[in-house]
Amino acid sequence: MVDESQQSEELKPNQVAQYIEPPADSDTLNPEPGPLFESNPIRLKVLRELKGKSVLSARQFTREQVIELAKLAAFLEKVEIASCHPLDGKMAITAFFEASTRTRISFESAVLRLDGKIISIPEGGSTGAKKGESLSDMAEMFNAYGDIVIMRHTETDSVDQIMRNLRVPLINAGNGSGEHPTQALADWYALLKWRPDLIDTQPTRGKSLNLGILGTPGSMRAVKSFLLMSLLFQANIGRVTVISEMADPFGADVIDDLKQAGINYEVTHDIQQHLAQLDVIYMNSIAFLGDSYRKLDSRYKLNRKSALKKEAVILHPLARADELDPDLDDTPHNLYFAQAHGAVFIRQALLISIFGRLDRLPSQIPSIES
Ligand code: CP
Repeated sequence: MVDESQQSEELKPNQVAQYIEPPADSDTLNPEPGPLFESNPIRLKVLRELKGKSVLSARQFTREQVIELAKLAAFLEKVEIASCHPLDGKMAITAFFEASTRTRISFESAVLRLDGKIISIPEGGSTGAKKGESLSDMAEMFNAYGDIVIMRHTETDSVDQIMRNLRVPLINAGNGSGEHPTQALADWYALLKWRPDLIDTQPTRGKSLNLGILGTPGSMRAVKSFLLMSLLFQANIGRVTVISEMADPFGADVIDDLKQAGINYEVTHDIQQHLAQLDVIYMNSIAFLGDSYRKLDSRYKLNRKSALKKEAVILHPLARADELDPDLDDTPHNLYFAQAHGAVFIRQALLISIFGRLDRLPSQIPSIES
């Protein structure tokens, strides 16, 4: 058994952690992380609330938690902290029963860069699931083999199944058409870097966002989690416009959340009428329906010639199909690459908080206890 207090003495954070140089200029949007934390200390008390917690839904986060995680992520993006070994001695199991490029690899990168260890299951068919073993039985083994489970699954009720026996924290990395809460954290991390003023609950006149969603929150888990987390930033959002070919793109539960939040929203089929008013466009076209992937909202496509507002940014959880033309990649509308790249740092911030390893961070971290 590792004595954590003794270990944290031995691994005292490096006093001279190095600042990382920002990359060379490019047309593609790559917002600087510094403004998020440099004059705005990270509130450790808020992050300590996450210690030992599972992450199952975007609904469970408070606005303060999202903001403090984003500030810590910005610090981690800006400062080289490998020498602090924040996850030393911790073992994460990435159990992916459905394909993934970004989520699994960014979580594994996050853990390994923090000096934790990984047991990687990139394909559910390599487990007893192939022989009919239940997730609740597998959970019993995961309790013994790891300190946290990061799971993606095709079944929406997979989270309920594994939680029956799991006693270590679970991170839901996408459950069927359910949710993808850490994707929403990555989305909001990108938005807060782009517009640090969104932290302010009393935005200056004319600074609130018009948010457009090209997709169906009811069947696209990333869209749903993004929308649910956006409700926390209601004070900064003028209107949400959902552009969908479906008559009712929301599930009943999401409608309840929208009504409770009292946010202005509208649903339309007409992209041309609304595009030029949107500040942020969140798009996705691939949905998991029943037992297969389907392309929804396939008639809504964006490219360099689309009538976008000059300052508008596009978010996309990726993978993309033909709804997002690569000719937008090299334009200032492209926030989607920053969104994907920043996922490593927001996941690092989350893992450090869940494992209660905030005290391993370098002493120069701008933070306060309250
Ligand atoms: N954003 C996202 O969930 O991507 P992957 O499916 O590649 O993990």
